Amino acid sequence: MFDKRVHNFCAGPATMPTAVLEKAQAELLNWKNGGSSVMEISHRSIAFMEIAKKAEQDLRTLMKIPDNYKVLFLQGGASLQFSTIPMNLLHGTADYLETGTWSKKALTEAKRYEEAGLGKINVVASSKDSNYTTVPDRATWQLSDGADYFHYCPNETIHGVTLFDVPDVDAPIIADMSSNILSSPIDVSKFGMIYAGAQKNIGPAGLTIVIIREDLLGKANAICPNTQNYLNQAENDSMLNTPPTFAWYLSGLVFEWLLEQGGVEAIYQQNLEKAKRLYDFIDNSDFYQNPVDKKYRSIMNIPFTLANSELDKTFLEQATNAGLLNLKGHKSVGGMRASIYNAVDLTAINDLIGFMQQFEKNSV
Ligand SMILES: Cc1ncc(COP(=O)(O)O)c(C=O)c1O
Repeated sequence: MFDKRVHNFCAGPATMPTAVLEKAQAELLNWKNGGSSVMEISHRSIAFMEIAKKAEQDLRTLMKIPDNYKVLFLQGGASLQFSTIPMNLLHGTADYLETGTWSKKALTEAKRYEEAGLGKINVVASSKDSNYTTVPDRATWQLSDGADYFHYCPNETIHGVTLFDVPDVDAPIIADMSSNILSSPIDVSKFGMIYAGAQKNIGPAGLTIVIIREDLLGKANAICPNTQNYLNQAENDSMLNTPPTFAWYLSGLVFEWLLEQGGVEAIYQQNLEKAKRLYDFIDNSDFYQNPVDKKYRSIMNIPFTLANSELDKTFLEQATNAGLLNLKGHKSVGGMRASIYNAVDLTAINDLIGFMQQFEKNSV
Protein backbone atom coordinates (compact mmCIF):
# COMPACT_ATOMS: atom_id res chain seq x y z
CA MET A 1 0.00 0.00 0.00
CA PHE A 2 2.91 2.38 0.70
CA ASP A 3 6.10 2.60 -1.30
CA LYS A 4 7.89 4.67 1.34
CA ARG A 5 7.94 5.16 5.10
CA VAL A 6 4.85 6.85 6.50
CA HIS A 7 4.41 9.24 9.41
CA ASN A 8 3.69 6.85 12.24
CA PHE A 9 1.95 8.26 15.33
CA CYS A 10 1.66 4.91 17.10
CA ALA A 11 1.76 4.98 20.92
CA GLY A 12 3.98 1.90 20.94
CA PRO A 13 5.67 0.02 19.48
CA ALA A 14 6.43 3.37 17.94
CA THR A 15 8.34 4.75 15.03
CA MET A 16 12.13 4.35 15.14
CA PRO A 17 14.62 6.77 13.57
CA THR A 18 15.03 5.84 9.90
CA ALA A 19 18.80 6.26 10.18
CA VAL A 20 18.87 3.60 12.90
CA LEU A 21 16.89 1.13 10.81
CA GLU A 22 19.14 1.77 7.85
CA LYS A 23 22.25 1.14 9.93
CA ALA A 24 20.76 -2.07 11.35
CA GLN A 25 19.80 -3.13 7.84
CA ALA A 26 23.29 -2.47 6.51
CA GLU A 27 24.95 -4.55 9.21
CA LEU A 28 22.24 -7.15 9.62
CA LEU A 29 23.82 -10.12 7.89
CA ASN A 30 27.42 -9.56 8.84
CA TRP A 31 27.89 -7.44 11.94
CA LYS A 32 31.36 -5.84 11.94
CA ASN A 33 32.69 -8.60 9.68
CA GLY A 34 32.07 -11.22 12.31
CA GLY A 35 30.19 -13.29 9.76
CA SER A 36 26.90 -13.28 11.73
CA SER A 37 24.11 -10.94 12.67
CA VAL A 38 23.92 -9.64 16.25
CA MET A 39 20.90 -11.93 16.68
CA GLU A 40 23.06 -14.97 16.19
CA ILE A 41 25.90 -14.42 18.63
CA SER A 42 26.16 -15.39 22.29
CA HIS A 43 25.21 -12.79 24.84
CA ARG A 44 28.40 -13.84 26.64
CA SER A 45 30.65 -13.24 23.63
CA ILE A 46 33.15 -10.40 23.76
CA ALA A 47 31.44 -8.86 20.72
CA PHE A 48 28.04 -8.67 22.43
CA MET A 49 29.52 -7.55 25.74
CA GLU A 50 30.95 -4.56 23.86
CA ILE A 51 27.54 -3.72 22.39
CA ALA A 52 25.95 -4.03 25.82
CA LYS A 53 28.53 -1.89 27.58
CA LYS A 54 28.49 0.82 24.93
CA ALA A 55 24.69 1.04 25.04
CA GLU A 56 24.75 1.40 28.82
CA GLN A 57 27.50 3.99 28.68
CA ASP A 58 25.65 6.04 26.06
CA LEU A 59 22.44 5.92 28.09
CA ARG A 60 24.38 7.04 31.15
CA THR A 61 25.79 9.95 29.14
CA LEU A 62 22.41 10.91 27.69
CA MET A 63 20.63 10.88 31.05
CA LYS A 64 23.63 11.94 33.18
CA ILE A 65 23.05 8.90 35.39
CA PRO A 66 25.08 9.16 38.61
CA ASP A 67 27.56 6.39 39.44
CA ASN A 68 25.54 5.14 42.40
CA TYR A 69 22.77 3.94 40.06
CA LYS A 70 22.68 0.60 38.28
CA VAL A 71 21.24 0.38 34.77
CA LEU A 72 19.50 -2.91 34.03
CA PHE A 73 18.42 -4.22 30.63
CA LEU A 74 15.54 -6.57 31.40
CA GLN A 75 12.59 -8.33 29.81
CA GLY A 76 8.88 -8.52 30.56
CA GLY A 77 7.92 -4.97 29.65
CA ALA A 78 7.04 -2.16 32.01
CA SER A 79 4.05 -4.26 33.09
CA LEU A 80 6.24 -6.87 34.73
CA GLN A 81 7.81 -4.07 36.75
CA PHE A 82 4.38 -3.39 38.26
CA SER A 83 4.81 -6.62 40.27
CA THR A 84 8.61 -6.67 40.37
CA ILE A 85 8.67 -3.39 42.29
CA PRO A 86 6.61 -4.60 45.28
CA MET A 87 8.45 -7.92 45.31
CA ASN A 88 11.71 -6.04 45.66
CA LEU A 89 10.74 -3.10 47.77
CA LEU A 90 7.44 -3.51 49.62
CA HIS A 91 7.90 -4.32 53.29
CA GLY A 92 5.70 -1.81 55.13
CA THR A 93 3.63 0.67 53.14
CA ALA A 94 4.04 1.95 49.60
CA ASP A 95 2.40 5.12 48.24
CA TYR A 96 0.82 5.22 44.79
CA LEU A 97 -0.43 8.26 42.91
CA GLU A 98 -3.19 7.48 40.39
CA THR A 99 -3.31 9.78 37.37
CA GLY A 100 -4.40 7.50 34.52
CA THR A 101 -4.57 3.99 33.15
CA TRP A 102 -0.91 3.12 33.62
CA SER A 103 -0.48 4.29 37.18
CA LYS A 104 -3.77 2.53 37.96
CA LYS A 105 -2.49 -0.71 36.44
CA ALA A 106 0.67 -0.48 38.55
CA LEU A 107 -1.45 0.11 41.61
CA THR A 108 -3.80 -2.77 40.86
CA GLU A 109 -0.88 -5.15 40.49
CA ALA A 110 0.75 -3.93 43.71
CA LYS A 111 -2.53 -4.51 45.58
CA ARG A 112 -2.10 -8.27 45.06
CA TYR A 113 0.85 -8.13 47.43
CA GLU A 114 -1.25 -6.31 49.99
CA GLU A 115 -3.90 -9.04 49.64
CA ALA A 116 -1.18 -11.64 50.15
CA GLY A 117 -0.25 -9.93 53.42
CA LEU A 118 3.11 -8.67 52.22
CA GLY A 119 2.55 -4.98 52.93
CA LYS A 120 0.13 -2.12 52.52
CA ILE A 121 -0.63 -0.12 49.38
CA ASN A 122 -1.80 3.43 49.98
CA VAL A 123 -3.47 5.43 47.20
CA VAL A 124 -2.18 8.93 47.80
CA ALA A 125 -4.72 10.59 45.50
CA SER A 126 -6.58 9.88 42.28
CA SER A 127 -7.73 12.00 39.37
CA LYS A 128 -10.24 9.35 38.25
CA ASP A 129 -13.18 11.70 38.85
CA SER A 130 -11.83 14.05 36.18
CA ASN A 131 -11.51 11.13 33.72
CA TYR A 132 -7.79 11.55 34.27
CA THR A 133 -7.61 14.94 32.57
CA THR A 134 -5.66 16.54 35.39
CA VAL A 135 -3.41 15.73 38.37
CA PRO A 136 -4.74 15.80 41.94
CA ASP A 137 -3.70 18.94 43.77
CA ARG A 138 -0.54 18.25 45.79
CA ALA A 139 -2.23 19.66 48.92
CA THR A 140 -4.74 16.78 48.85
CA TRP A 141 -2.20 13.94 48.71
CA GLN A 142 -2.39 11.57 51.66
CA LEU A 143 1.20 10.40 52.01
CA SER A 144 2.21 7.66 54.45
CA ASP A 145 4.90 8.21 57.06
CA GLY A 146 8.06 6.28 56.24
CA ALA A 147 6.74 4.76 53.00
CA ASP A 148 9.01 2.21 51.33
CA TYR A 149 8.56 4.10 48.08
CA PHE A 150 6.31 6.51 46.19
CA HIS A 151 5.18 5.29 42.75
CA TYR A 152 3.83 7.45 39.94
CA CYS A 153 3.67 7.66 36.16
CA PRO A 154 5.01 11.06 35.00
CA ASN A 155 3.54 10.68 31.53
CA GLU A 156 0.22 8.90 31.15
CA THR A 157 0.42 7.63 27.58
CA ILE A 158 -3.31 7.08 27.10
CA HIS A 159 -4.63 10.26 28.69
CA GLY A 160 -1.82 12.57 27.59
CA VAL A 161 -1.23 13.88 31.11
CA THR A 162 2.24 14.80 32.41
CA LEU A 163 3.56 15.73 35.84
CA PHE A 164 6.39 18.03 34.84
CA ASP A 165 7.78 18.50 38.36
CA VAL A 166 9.24 15.61 40.30
CA PRO A 167 6.94 15.21 43.34
CA ASP A 168 8.36 16.58 46.58
CA VAL A 169 7.96 13.53 48.78
CA ASP A 170 10.31 11.94 51.30
CA ALA A 171 10.07 8.32 50.16
CA PRO A 172 12.26 7.01 47.32
CA ILE A 173 10.46 7.97 44.11
CA ILE A 174 9.76 5.28 41.52
CA ALA A 175 8.69 6.56 38.11
CA ASP A 176 7.22 4.67 35.17
CA MET A 177 8.82 6.69 32.36
CA SER A 178 7.82 4.30 29.57
CA SER A 179 6.48 7.09 27.38
CA ASN A 180 8.66 10.05 28.34
CA ILE A 181 12.13 8.70 29.04
CA LEU A 182 14.78 10.58 27.00
CA SER A 183 12.24 13.17 25.85
CA SER A 184 13.37 15.93 28.22
CA PRO A 185 16.25 16.42 30.65
CA ILE A 186 15.64 15.01 34.13
CA ASP A 187 17.63 14.92 37.34
CA VAL A 188 18.06 11.19 37.91
CA SER A 189 19.36 11.79 41.43
CA LYS A 190 15.85 12.81 42.51
CA PHE A 191 14.61 9.27 41.85
CA GLY A 192 15.02 5.98 43.65
CA MET A 193 14.19 4.12 40.47
CA ILE A 194 13.14 4.85 36.90
CA TYR A 195 11.80 2.21 34.57
CA ALA A 196 10.54 2.12 31.01
CA GLY A 197 9.43 -0.31 28.35
CA ALA A 198 11.68 0.35 25.36
CA GLN A 199 9.14 0.49 22.58
CA LYS A 200 8.61 4.28 22.44
CA ASN A 201 11.71 6.43 22.91
CA ILE A 202 14.34 3.73 23.39
CA GLY A 203 14.05 1.08 20.72
CA PRO A 204 11.99 -1.96 19.80
CA ALA A 205 9.67 -3.89 22.12
CA GLY A 206 11.18 -6.66 24.22
CA LEU A 207 13.52 -4.64 26.38
CA THR A 208 12.80 -2.90 29.68
CA ILE A 209 15.21 -0.43 31.19
CA VAL A 210 15.51 -0.10 34.97
CA ILE A 211 17.69 2.60 36.53
CA ILE A 212 17.92 1.95 40.25
CA ARG A 213 19.81 3.58 43.11
CA GLU A 214 22.18 1.11 44.72
CA ASP A 215 20.79 1.41 48.24
CA LEU A 216 17.48 -0.04 46.95
CA LEU A 217 19.13 -3.27 45.86
CA GLY A 218 19.11 -6.37 48.04
CA LYS A 219 15.69 -5.84 49.62
CA ALA A 220 13.67 -8.43 47.69
CA ASN A 221 11.14 -10.52 49.57
CA ALA A 222 11.16 -14.31 49.73
CA ILE A 223 8.68 -14.82 46.87
CA CYS A 224 10.65 -12.73 44.37
CA PRO A 225 11.84 -14.90 41.46
CA ASN A 226 15.55 -14.91 40.82
CA THR A 227 15.25 -13.13 37.46
CA GLN A 228 13.11 -10.36 39.00
CA ASN A 229 15.52 -9.66 41.82
CA TYR A 230 17.22 -6.34 41.02
CA LEU A 231 20.32 -7.20 43.03
CA ASN A 232 20.81 -10.47 41.17
CA GLN A 233 20.41 -8.74 37.82
CA ALA A 234 22.76 -5.92 38.83
CA GLU A 235 25.40 -8.40 40.01
CA ASN A 236 25.13 -10.30 36.73
CA ASP A 237 25.16 -7.28 34.38
CA SER A 238 21.54 -8.10 33.38
CA MET A 239 22.71 -11.45 32.04
CA LEU A 240 21.32 -13.77 34.68
CA ASN A 241 19.60 -15.44 31.77
CA THR A 242 19.60 -14.66 28.05
CA PRO A 243 18.77 -10.98 27.58
CA PRO A 244 16.91 -9.61 24.51
CA THR A 245 20.15 -9.14 22.62
CA PHE A 246 18.84 -7.71 19.37
CA ALA A 247 16.60 -5.19 21.13
CA TRP A 248 19.56 -4.19 23.30
CA TYR A 249 21.71 -3.66 20.18
CA LEU A 250 19.00 -1.62 18.41
CA SER A 251 18.48 0.50 21.51
CA GLY A 252 22.21 1.16 21.51
CA LEU A 253 21.90 2.44 17.95
CA VAL A 254 19.06 4.73 19.05
CA PHE A 255 21.24 6.10 21.87
CA GLU A 256 24.02 6.80 19.34
CA TRP A 257 21.50 8.53 17.09
CA LEU A 258 20.26 10.64 19.99
CA LEU A 259 23.79 11.68 20.88
CA GLU A 260 24.29 12.69 17.24
CA GLN A 261 21.15 14.85 17.45
CA GLY A 262 22.77 16.77 20.30
CA GLY A 263 21.46 14.67 23.19
CA VAL A 264 18.38 14.99 25.32
CA GLU A 265 18.44 18.79 25.65
CA ALA A 266 18.44 19.20 21.85
CA ILE A 267 15.67 16.66 21.26
CA TYR A 268 13.68 18.28 24.07
CA GLN A 269 13.70 21.61 22.21
CA GLN A 270 12.37 19.82 19.13
CA ASN A 271 9.76 18.01 21.22
CA LEU A 272 8.58 21.31 22.72
CA GLU A 273 8.25 22.85 19.27
CA LYS A 274 6.37 19.84 17.89
CA ALA A 275 3.91 19.75 20.78
CA LYS A 276 3.41 23.53 20.74
CA ARG A 277 2.53 23.52 17.05
CA LEU A 278 -0.04 20.79 17.48
CA TYR A 279 -1.61 22.18 20.66
CA ASP A 280 -1.73 25.70 19.20
CA PHE A 281 -3.50 24.38 16.14
CA ILE A 282 -6.00 22.38 18.22
CA ASP A 283 -6.66 25.29 20.59
CA ASN A 284 -7.27 27.68 17.72
CA SER A 285 -9.81 25.39 16.14
CA ASP A 286 -13.47 24.89 17.09
CA PHE A 287 -13.41 21.53 15.36
CA TYR A 288 -10.69 19.78 17.37
CA GLN A 289 -10.35 19.62 21.11
CA ASN A 290 -7.87 18.40 23.72
CA PRO A 291 -9.48 17.77 27.12
CA VAL A 292 -6.37 17.92 29.32
CA ASP A 293 -5.77 20.62 31.92
CA LYS A 294 -3.29 22.90 30.14
CA LYS A 295 -0.59 22.77 32.78
CA TYR A 296 -0.40 18.97 32.57
CA ARG A 297 -0.47 18.50 28.82
CA SER A 298 1.95 15.86 27.58
CA ILE A 299 4.50 16.73 24.91
CA MET A 300 4.66 13.05 23.89
CA ASN A 301 1.04 11.89 23.61
CA ILE A 302 -1.62 14.30 22.42
CA PRO A 303 -5.19 13.03 22.48
CA PHE A 304 -7.81 15.03 20.61
CA THR A 305 -11.44 14.70 19.65
CA LEU A 306 -13.40 15.90 16.63
CA ALA A 307 -16.47 18.09 17.11
CA ASN A 308 -18.56 15.27 15.66
CA SER A 309 -17.43 11.78 16.66
CA GLU A 310 -19.37 10.32 13.72
CA LEU A 311 -16.54 11.64 11.56
CA ASP A 312 -13.88 9.65 13.46
CA LYS A 313 -13.90 6.72 11.06
CA THR A 314 -13.62 8.92 7.97
CA PHE A 315 -10.86 10.96 9.61
CA LEU A 316 -8.84 7.84 10.28
CA GLU A 317 -9.40 6.42 6.80
CA GLN A 318 -8.39 9.63 5.09
CA ALA A 319 -5.41 10.12 7.40
CA THR A 320 -4.17 6.63 6.59
CA ASN A 321 -4.55 7.33 2.86
CA ALA A 322 -2.49 10.48 3.39
CA GLY A 323 0.30 8.45 5.02
CA LEU A 324 -0.54 9.53 8.58
CA LEU A 325 -0.89 6.29 10.51
CA ASN A 326 -2.06 5.06 13.89
CA LEU A 327 -3.95 8.13 15.04
CA LYS A 328 -6.81 6.24 16.68
CA GLY A 329 -7.17 7.10 20.35
CA HIS A 330 -7.12 4.40 23.00
CA LYS A 331 -10.51 2.72 23.31
CA SER A 332 -10.90 3.91 26.92
CA VAL A 333 -10.66 7.56 25.82
CA GLY A 334 -11.93 7.52 22.24
CA GLY A 335 -11.18 10.11 19.57
CA MET A 336 -7.64 10.42 18.29
CA ARG A 337 -4.17 10.43 19.75
CA ALA A 338 -0.95 11.58 18.15
CA SER A 339 2.07 10.05 19.85
CA ILE A 340 4.97 12.25 18.90
CA TYR A 341 8.03 10.60 20.38
CA ASN A 342 11.63 11.59 19.65
CA ALA A 343 11.72 9.88 16.25
CA VAL A 344 8.62 11.72 14.96
CA ASP A 345 9.99 14.79 13.24
CA LEU A 346 8.62 18.27 12.67
CA THR A 347 7.65 17.39 9.09
CA ALA A 348 5.29 14.76 10.44
CA ILE A 349 3.66 17.34 12.70
CA ASN A 350 3.34 19.87 9.89
CA ASP A 351 1.84 17.26 7.58
CA LEU A 352 -0.59 16.18 10.30
CA ILE A 353 -1.69 19.77 10.91
CA GLY A 354 -2.08 20.34 7.17
CA PHE A 355 -4.26 17.26 6.92
CA MET A 356 -6.35 18.25 9.95
CA GLN A 357 -6.89 21.73 8.50
CA GLN A 358 -8.07 20.31 5.20
CA PHE A 359 -10.29 17.74 6.88
CA GLU A 360 -11.95 20.44 8.95
CA LYS A 361 -12.57 22.56 5.83
CA ASN A 362 -14.15 19.63 4.03
CA SER A 363 -16.36 18.76 6.98
CA VAL A 364 -17.93 22.08 8.05
C1 LIG B 1 3.31 4.54 30.78
C2 LIG B 1 3.26 3.10 30.42
N1 LIG B 1 3.50 2.18 31.35
C3 LIG B 1 3.49 0.87 31.08
C4 LIG B 1 3.20 0.42 29.82
C5 LIG B 1 3.17 -1.05 29.55
O1 LIG B 1 4.34 -1.38 28.90
P1 LIG B 1 4.64 -2.86 28.42
O2 LIG B 1 3.71 -3.15 27.29
O3 LIG B 1 6.08 -2.77 28.04
O4 LIG B 1 4.41 -3.76 29.57
C6 LIG B 1 2.93 1.34 28.80
C7 LIG B 1 2.62 0.87 27.43
O5 LIG B 1 2.19 1.56 26.57
C8 LIG B 1 2.94 2.71 29.11
O6 LIG B 1 2.69 3.63 28.16
